[in-house]
Amino acid sequence: MKVTVVGAGNVGATCADVLAYRQLADEVVLLDIKEGLSEGKGLDMLQTATLLGFGTKITASTNDYSKTAGSDVVLITSGIPRKPGMTREELIGINAGIVKSVTENLIRYSPNAIVIVISNPMDTMTYLALKSSGLPKNRIIGMGGILDSARFKTYLSLALNASQHDIEGVVIGGHGDTTMIPLTRLATYKGVPVSQFLSAEQLKQVAADTMVGGATLTKLIGTSAWYAPGAAGALLVESIVRDQKRVFPCCVVLDGEYGQKDICLGVPVVIGRNGWEKIIDFQLNAEEQELFNKSAEAVRSMNSVLST
Ligand code: NAI
Repeated sequence: MKVTVVGAGNVGATCADVLAYRQLADEVVLLDIKEGLSEGKGLDMLQTATLLGFGTKITASTNDYSKTAGSDVVLITSGIPRKPGMTREELIGINAGIVKSVTENLIRYSPNAIVIVISNPMDTMTYLALKSSGLPKNRIIGMGGILDSARFKTYLSLALNASQHDIEGVVIGGHGDTTMIPLTRLATYKGVPVSQFLSAEQLKQVAADTMVGGATLTKLIGTSAWYAPGAAGALLVESIVRDQKRVFPCCVVLDGEYGQKDICLGVPVVIGRNGWEKIIDFQLNAEEQELFNKSAEAVRSMNSVLST
């Protein structure tokens, strides 16, 4: 398996590192527009091979897409991240141009690849990649819900003072501070609804913390996070290359599912060798469906900027 990561910045390099270390591909290609950046980080990563014990081939390049030829999976992390006080939506002006040209270049050399979009605003960038590539819908996946769910589970574990491994929790909807929907009703601790252990007030706080989870980190670090985003991208790749058929909340195009059409939004999907293979219906209650509709409305208005 060959996996390409475009963007050797914080998220891209972290993701490539996890892919290589966990040997999720035979070859990982790291590419960036900034002269020397991917080569430097790629070489640094390669020098961890004997220390950490992996044999993944790492190829690095400054914008030479021929090196990416024949990739099975490609991840797009190129673009600017947000700074403290910025929303993900404010990145659209610059990132739309980058994501469009990067997608075109990738597809030219890897026409059969599954494309994972990470650049923000991710829901709109996924829609852009889908429309501009003309690829079958199952091969375009936006990564955001896996990360938001990891943050949700982290905040639940802190509130419960329990191990994250005993907690299930899913975030659907958009990947924006106000558009994501942590499904507290369906979250469980050791298989039991978390509402049995936490008060409504505590659950509300967990959901609120989750929604600004990225902004909290941006404020602390000065730029957006990378460890969890990189690991989340790699987890998605793992389910694809190993055909694990795991269910993850991912941003995919909807055609009537969850009451929405012609929009890319986070819903639970089965991820396997063919990309996203099936949308799972979580049977939202009326309140959750209303939040989902509002989320769709916000993302749709964002998408409309693309064509103007
Ligand atoms: P970064 O600034 O560390 O890295 C971005 C890299 O993209 C830079 O090295 C830059 O040289 C490169 N780049 C820019 N234009 C390019 C082009 N045309 N071709 C190739 N490379 C190009 O930023 P970071 O922190 O890695 O974030 C990357 C993106 O991922 C941002 O848009 C950020 O908002 C987004 N993000 C998304 C998450 C998600 O869950 N979907 C989570 C975290 C970040």
